[in-house]
Amino acid sequence: MTLLIRGGTVVTHDETYRADVLCVDGQIAAVGPDLEVPAGAEIIDAAGQYVMPGGIDPHTHMQLPFMGTVASEDFYTGTAAGLAGGTTTIIDFVIPSPGQSLMEAFETWRGWADKAAADYAFHVAITWWDDSVREDMGTLVREHGVNSFKHFMAYKNAIMATDDILVESFTRCLELGAVPTVHAENGELVYHLQQKLLAQGITGPEAHPLSRPPQVEGEAASRAIRIAGTLGAPIYVVHVSCKDSLDEITYARQQGQAVYGECLAGHLVIDESVYRNKDWDTAAGYVMSPPFRSKAHQDALWKGLQSGNLQTTATDHCCFCAEQKAMGKDDFTKIPNGTAGIEDRMAVLWDEGVNSGRLSLQEFVALTSTNAAKIFNLYPRKGAVRVGADADLVVWDPKGTRTISAKTHHQNIDFNIFEGKTVTGIPRHTISQGKWVWRDGELHAERGAGRYLERPAYPGVYDVLKRRAEVNTPTAVDRD
Ligand code: URP
Ligand code: ZN
Ligand code: ZN
Repeated sequence: MTLLIRGGTVVTHDETYRADVLCVDGQIAAVGPDLEVPAGAEIIDAAGQYVMPGGIDPHTHMQLPFMGTVASEDFYTGTAAGLAGGTTTIIDFVIPSPGQSLMEAFETWRGWADKAAADYAFHVAITWWDDSVREDMGTLVREHGVNSFKHFMAYKNAIMATDDILVESFTRCLELGAVPTVHAENGELVYHLQQKLLAQGITGPEAHPLSRPPQVEGEAASRAIRIAGTLGAPIYVVHVSCKDSLDEITYARQQGQAVYGECLAGHLVIDESVYRNKDWDTAAGYVMSPPFRSKAHQDALWKGLQSGNLQTTATDHCCFCAEQKAMGKDDFTKIPNGTAGIEDRMAVLWDEGVNSGRLSLQEFVALTSTNAAKIFNLYPRKGAVRVGADADLVVWDPKGTRTISAKTHHQNIDFNIFEGKTVTGIPRHTISQGKWVWRDGELHAERGAGRYLERPAYPGVYDVLKRRAEVNTPTAVDRD
């Protein structure tokens, strides 16, 4: 199949220039001015528009079994909604139950993801520890292209990874050349605060942010970063929501540590007042962890993106409909944690980031696509507009507008955290594997078209990190 995107302005993480882009059989075949139209080619008119790498959302949870229910968005509906929003790749999470074999969980998630409409990869969570986990991590890295492992420092009595597990698993990641990632919240403190609030009779969604204050996130980020630093491993902190954890990342980076931070579109624009909405369903619709924070934290996150201390943007797309959220009607700790966003991330980031002058075009591309591709070793197959890269592209109309609503979105959820927000700057066309899947408001997603992406580990990066760790860690004690 041949597709020519004609007359647009190509934007990558480091350049902006006028060029046509020719896609042949799923890959970019040529980039340049005034390309000839090959016989039989479909043509997309991109005049006045930007041609950018398709978005990569490095944090999604399609059909996740979680908190007594299953996320309503499956791998087909979720990736299709992503395509409508300009996102052409997701990295989802395999989350084994404690005691479950990693390989068994991996195969289960691979089966679920067969119906994906866009390309996908997996992080695998470490929720328990024994020799078989150690072994399976090796198999996943060496034979299945998994190069990142996730650790939930919260969700006590469920999937929480305690410090001993972090130490074992980060050490193993270091041996394998994989990246440890963390959900940084102190699970013991969250549990303690939850019990205290319930005992005080505060049972509604307004208690959710009170049980997870910024210090709880800052403490966990500091601990995880220092554990990684001591071992000489890199670390990626998911959904950084507040200044407290951002400061820990910034400090560690200044010390030369390999620390990366991710930020969610929702955390940049939604504040904690949503939990005080008088309508229970509306307030519960925003329950996710970490919670939405005050404006001051939002400002800090924007600065984190601008300064390069936060490198990626994601959604943590994890959908629960109102009837699922109602499981926590009498007890906020039972409201399934999670919100949607895959369809809106790029438009929200453009509207609030580029239109406001906070972000340049190049920074937008880096933050929505290229940096995630680099950190998780998908680059330059993904995250690039260059010959030989996958033809995953978005044709962006900077003047187009859309009012976000659950009534019109493609996400399989009856709520939208950005409800009523009008954005200027929208994906006019999305191209996935060289196919025109979002055509000016029409979705042509194909069930099962998505491919599993292998992400090899990083021996090169790790050689450097290991040498750095050896220099910084004394192996013998000098005595006077
Ligand atoms: O509330 C959230 N974020 N739900 C999904 C699981 C997680 O913590 O990432
Ligand atoms: Zn999380
Ligand atoms: Zn998550």
